[in-house]
Amino acid sequence: MTTEPATEETTASPSPRLAAVVLAAGMGKRMRSKLPKVLHRIAGVPLVEHVVRAVAPLAPARTVLVVGHGGEQVQAVMGSGYEYVTQAQQLGTGHAVLQARATVAGQADTVLVLYGDSPLLRSTTLADLVRLHHSRPGVRATILTCIAEDPTGYGRIIRDAGGQVFDIVEERVATPEQRALKETNSGIYCFDSAWLWPRLAELLVHPGAGEYYLTDMIAVAIREQPGSVQTFQVSGMEEVAGINNRVQLAEADLVIRNRIRTRWMLEGVTMIDPATTYIDVDVTLGQDTILYPGCYLQGQTRVGADCRLGPQARLVDAVVGDGCVVGTSLLEDCVVEDGVDIGSFNHLRPGAYLSTGVHLGNFAEVKNSRLGRNVSQGHFSYIGDAEVGDNTNIGAGTITANFNNGVKNRTQIGPNVFIGSDSVLIAPVEVGAGAQTGAGAVVNKDVPPGALVVGVPARVIRWLNGGPPERGGPAAPPREGSDPPA
Ligand code: UD1
Ligand code: MG
Repeated sequence: MTTEPATEETTASPSPRLAAVVLAAGMGKRMRSKLPKVLHRIAGVPLVEHVVRAVAPLAPARTVLVVGHGGEQVQAVMGSGYEYVTQAQQLGTGHAVLQARATVAGQADTVLVLYGDSPLLRSTTLADLVRLHHSRPGVRATILTCIAEDPTGYGRIIRDAGGQVFDIVEERVATPEQRALKETNSGIYCFDSAWLWPRLAELLVHPGAGEYYLTDMIAVAIREQPGSVQTFQVSGMEEVAGINNRVQLAEADLVIRNRIRTRWMLEGVTMIDPATTYIDVDVTLGQDTILYPGCYLQGQTRVGADCRLGPQARLVDAVVGDGCVVGTSLLEDCVVEDGVDIGSFNHLRPGAYLSTGVHLGNFAEVKNSRLGRNVSQGHFSYIGDAEVGDNTNIGAGTITANFNNGVKNRTQIGPNVFIGSDSVLIAPVEVGAGAQTGAGAVVNKDVPPGALVVGVPARVIRWLNGGPPERGGPAAPPREGSDPPA
């Protein structure tokens, strides 16, 4: 039996088209910062990005960011996934929304307005707001409001004797009675698109403020049509707090980080001290991983299952496999395979790649280098721009001298090599499979496979594992200048 494809008539009528307009043009004077306010980060992500991420699951037909102060910076950080309009002069929130008219008018039935400084919103709350807005025909605006224990700094929702909302009054101009009201404006609204755009164009400057307040649109709607504004009320500021200064920034950071901690603990991650465990929004963690106090996991870090991190491990854009141990170390932009053991005070810099079974003891630095399986780098050493073969041991104090006259040179170390303590490997240089360097060797020429080199500069003194190739040993004869003694 075949199924008929759905026709236009049989599909449910589409839900009204939604456009999201996010205001991000303000300077954020109260932040006292060179950085535009909406680019300040909480849990690793800019404020405005939290907002657009909350909106994304609603799948708006258009998502428009209104930028102005530091607009180029905002666009550079947020990237090309959004539409941008510019508010050249910051003349208020009403004026800011108006800048999106040409982009949005006619493209959507409902305009969801959000402020880029309100990063705590959950998608589910936004979806409920939009649903409520669509549930009553004829509504011109639905405001997300909040009963705040401390409403300081927010616009207050003003209701008439019958409980109908008829205005929003900013704290600055509120009477003492209005200030005592606990219901605040979150700055998140749904507007009927057909009504909004012509009325917004007629909005007057707010008396005494010199700005066009979006909040004044509520009184406009009520004057025109009583009952045309409704509210969607949430309790507590947990989702609707706006960030105007650094105190509020820190408070919001705490809220987001607590959500992240809760999420991962419920997913099976142990945190010995959640309060000192900092996990950015995009970090992922595997089951039964244990985070000791003071861990800071940043950026796009991914940690597998059954790992033990910290105390005080900092991972930035690091990918760590399953069953790894990381002590008090810094891992940046690097990859660590499964079963790697990293002690304390190690630094993995960008481009470090540690294969399964690698052991780093302490004070090891690895940059732009690949360590093969079971490589052991126990103490005080630097491996940069190098390739190290499987099962090789890097002795204490080993340095790849990779930098010469502004050029970075590579070091190639084969498998099963034993680099003796305090060896300096002057790149470009190659140490063959199964070779050894003696303590304090300064290696400025390639070491043939199977050779033992010592001294300054290092020269071959013996052949390991059966001698040089012509006597059945493992590899090519040594080059001129590094012959073994007769
Ligand atoms: C605003 C509301 C207030 C509400 C609070 C919620 C107004 C007049 N007041 O006050 O009722 O309780 O948010 O957090 O709307 N912006 C622009 N262009 C401008 C001005 C502002 O894009 O010309 C942007 C800002 O970047 C910011 C947002 O709009 O993201 C809100 O502006 P802000 O100055 O923070 O308003 P609040 O004083 O917090
Ligand atoms: Mg604000």
